[in-house]
Amino acid sequence: MTRHLLADDDLTPAEQATVLDRALALKASRHAERPLEGPQAVAIIFDKPTLRTQLSFTTGVAELGGYPMVVDGNLAQIGTRESVADVARVIGRQVSAVVWRTHGQDRIEEMARHAGVPVVNALTDDYHPCQGLADLLTIREHRGELAGQHLAYVGDGDNNMAHTYLLAGATAGMHVRIGTPASHQPDAGVLARAEAVAAQTGGSVLVTADPVEAVADAGSVATDTWVSMGQEDERSGRQGEGSPFAPFALSTELFAQAAPDAIALHCLPAYRGVEIAADVIDGPRSVVWDEAENRLHAQKAVLAFLLEQHRDGT
Ligand code: NVA
Repeated sequence: MTRHLLADDDLTPAEQATVLDRALALKASRHAERPLEGPQAVAIIFDKPTLRTQLSFTTGVAELGGYPMVVDGNLAQIGTRESVADVARVIGRQVSAVVWRTHGQDRIEEMARHAGVPVVNALTDDYHPCQGLADLLTIREHRGELAGQHLAYVGDGDNNMAHTYLLAGATAGMHVRIGTPASHQPDAGVLARAEAVAAQTGGSVLVTADPVEAVADAGSVATDTWVSMGQEDERSGRQGEGSPFAPFALSTELFAQAAPDAIALHCLPAYRGVEIAADVIDGPRSVVWDEAENRLHAQKAVLAFLLEQHRDGT
């Protein structure tokens, strides 16, 4: 059965740990593994804007010995010009893996059903599992073993990053605390999955409308934009006067409620003075540039893992 990374809990706790170990090893020795030697091609498709993801997948595939083929979603018009299933069948005959940034999770699930090669979610409306792996790698580097650690996220609880922190953090055995207004709760199904995973790993999940409760004593505090890609029409309500997220901004004062040596995470792009204070993102405990670099190492590790599983037919 072909394995994919469509959501964070597609990796078991043991697999996630293996991928993170491998990412650390690849970071230490960037050209150590070349499973795509040939070169084999990887299609990297964007239906939404990108900077970090295009850079890190392009570099990563090249470093793995492969050929990164960036496909412009505006030209391909997947699902409009032809069905997702037909595109998947065509792409799968050409390349060794597919990386796709798109809108609905149903689209990437459809791609995975028909491509016949591993499919990696490079962000959908629901999840951003590559960022999740990069963030866990960053936390591991700065704060050590993940299990038992307290990871807080404040901001929009109903977006891809909130869902990713719930699932990826629970898989790692972390205590995940989401601080978000009652109007923007995480998806109930995702929360139930995170709770089930946490019950196996010894982690826990909590969603609270009290930002201080979310960050209290946390070793890692993350936030994200209040206007995700595709929500631009809602910008004034989300970022403007009276924003429901205002109490959840990662201000200097809120960050001070976390552990004294806590690190601050943001997947970027960031809006200083909106969801995060400049003093926090540009301060000494910000790890955002490490996070951005770790996209490369985490994605190389997960691609190598999925390709091996596919080749071995496991
Ligand atoms: N929630 C953000 C993440 C950007 C990496 C978005 O979807 O735009």
